[in-house]
Amino acid sequence: LLDQRALPHAEVWLQLRDVEGVAQAIETLAVRGAPAIGGAAALALALHVRTTSIVDATALQDDLDVQTARLARTRPTAVNLFFALDAVTRARHGLTDSDAIRHAVVDAAERVVDDDEAACTALGNHGAPLLADGDVVLTICHTGALATCGQGTALGIVKAARAQGKDVRVVALETRPLLQGARLTSWECLREGIPVTLITDGMAAFAFQRLGITRAIAGADRVTRRGDVANKIGTYGVACLSHVHDVPFLVAAPTSTFDLELVHGSDIVIEERAADEVRKARGDTGWTTLAPVDVPVWNPAFDVTPAHFVHALVTERGVLHRTREAFDEDAVTQLVTRS
Ligand code: MRU
Repeated sequence: LLDQRALPHAEVWLQLRDVEGVAQAIETLAVRGAPAIGGAAALALALHVRTTSIVDATALQDDLDVQTARLARTRPTAVNLFFALDAVTRARHGLTDSDAIRHAVVDAAERVVDDDEAACTALGNHGAPLLADGDVVLTICHTGALATCGQGTALGIVKAARAQGKDVRVVALETRPLLQGARLTSWECLREGIPVTLITDGMAAFAFQRLGITRAIAGADRVTRRGDVANKIGTYGVACLSHVHDVPFLVAAPTSTFDLELVHGSDIVIEERAADEVRKARGDTGWTTLAPVDVPVWNPAFDVTPAHFVHALVTERGVLHRTREAFDEDAVTQLVTRS
């Protein structure tokens, strides 16, 4: 894995050899972004069946349950992790031959990754017509190749629109506290030749007035049946500002990011992270303390944007436009479950 903690200062590649290594890479944010976490977890199980010395099929199934549970405990909010683990678990379900189990796990894991890559491409193609030549797109967090197994979700739409010849520019929010926008999105945009302007999160409102923002696009970590969206902390603020400034707020998410078991965003478990992530900032030489070391802190990693602020959900199977207060639950269900 390309270690996201070291970017943009250094490109450090991690060699991960077991499930525990991948689990720790997810927990410590060496890999992050909902689809990328799902892909990494699936591949961890493939790695496991290729390296384990267990030969008995029942023992292998039991062991895989334990490894799967370990990966499931890494991060709670992005549903892609659970989607990927479920896909691998379903593939090996009921198998009683250890070679068959190994093959099923490897195939299913590789399918998770391949499907996400294809989903990113299709999602970009569905989203590109929503962007016009000259659009200035405000985005938050990271939603490109680093966060997925393909070209990205929200940033994938920008890439697809630019590939069609449209001059689309990005305004990236730095995304405190962990600065995914500053460290990852701006790095990826510069590498790919996408015009980008980096601003701090507090500049978002003024950017609507002065930088000519014409679209806001965010990715998602979990989307409910009515279209409430959990995404990186700060996304809800972007949605509110888009509403006030009459700018369409779009959410780009593959169907693996939808959780049809949940209707309301208030039921999404929001990861709360360490206080020091807010009290400190990480630069190229390590962490710097910014605040009193004992100041009380609240550090939710995600927020929930209510469906009524989301103009459209862009998926690999097409675009759903909101026509009422929330998205039509049947339409969302049909889109996500259609094969
Ligand atoms: O905490 P992170 O970096 O894993 O959070 C990532 C996000 O919230 C992304 O915006 C989301 O996964 C977008 S989909 C590529």
